[in-house]
Amino acid sequence: MDRARRQQYLDAMGIQGWAVRGAAPEDPPRQEAIARDVEDTTLRGADSRAVDPAPAPESPPASSPVPSPAIAADATDMPSWMDDLPPLTDDFAPVEDVDSLPADMAPAQPQRSDVERLDWPHLEQRVGECEACELHTSRTNTVFGVGNREADLLVIGEAPGADEDRQGEPFVGRAGQLLNAMLRAIGLQRDDVYIANILKCRPPGNRDPRQEEAAACEPYLRRQVALLRPKAILCVGRVAAHNLLKTEEAVGRMRGKDYRYDQIPVVVTYHPAYLLRSPDQKAKAWQDLQAAVTRLKAV
Ligand code: URA
Repeated sequence: MDRARRQQYLDAMGIQGWAVRGAAPEDPPRQEAIARDVEDTTLRGADSRAVDPAPAPESPPASSPVPSPAIAADATDMPSWMDDLPPLTDDFAPVEDVDSLPADMAPAQPQRSDVERLDWPHLEQRVGECEACELHTSRTNTVFGVGNREADLLVIGEAPGADEDRQGEPFVGRAGQLLNAMLRAIGLQRDDVYIANILKCRPPGNRDPRQEEAAACEPYLRRQVALLRPKAILCVGRVAAHNLLKTEEAVGRMRGKDYRYDQIPVVVTYHPAYLLRSPDQKAKAWQDLQAAVTRLKAV
């Protein structure tokens, strides 16, 4: 790609040249901490959601990632100012935990074996009729997913926000516009990829998805992945990364590591809504996009 064209892509993403990488931030420990541990908080259009309650405890991710050759992992020790934050709530417990609930407390999960057999039209229809969790009572539309059903790249976000709930399409708000720009930056149009969320229905007030909601919705995303069989998955934000990869690792620590979902390479990056609020992190997202391109080309 020639220089001018690359600059065009960078401009589209709002990255102001390469000075960002080497520039000394005003408050480096705090900036690092934000990048590693706080990450996305106002993901779906609202601007009033709380910061992550606490950094996740140190634990190896399910898929035992190794540092990617394409991008350097930037994990360092937790800053001391994070120590005073409250402990994790139940919402952050691994999704697998629902398996151990007593039968009468288990969420009304769509039968996985059943969903596993559905083709695209029937899967979409099933999602449209889903009443497996309480979110069906407050939704306007289900948000199934959008894009090319033969795409090489699958983008997975968190859950619909107000705009998405209204329109029935993922990532149509401001975060969606930045996502589109990020995709253009790597030479892809929105229509070239497939975009889906962990949840198909909007959590009221843009709160985080609950464990039982994510568990109830999981068979649908699993089936979408199985039908699509993308070459790579770009997982945007904490909620997507935690639910897809069954880890509680901070996004900042997951960046630059190799993960797999059902054998498919997964690249974890920041949520576009977080990047809207922390534009200085866009250079890191740009690195992650490069890593995704590397995965696409590797297959
Ligand atoms: N944020 C998400 O994670 N998904 C959407 O669809 C929109 C905003």
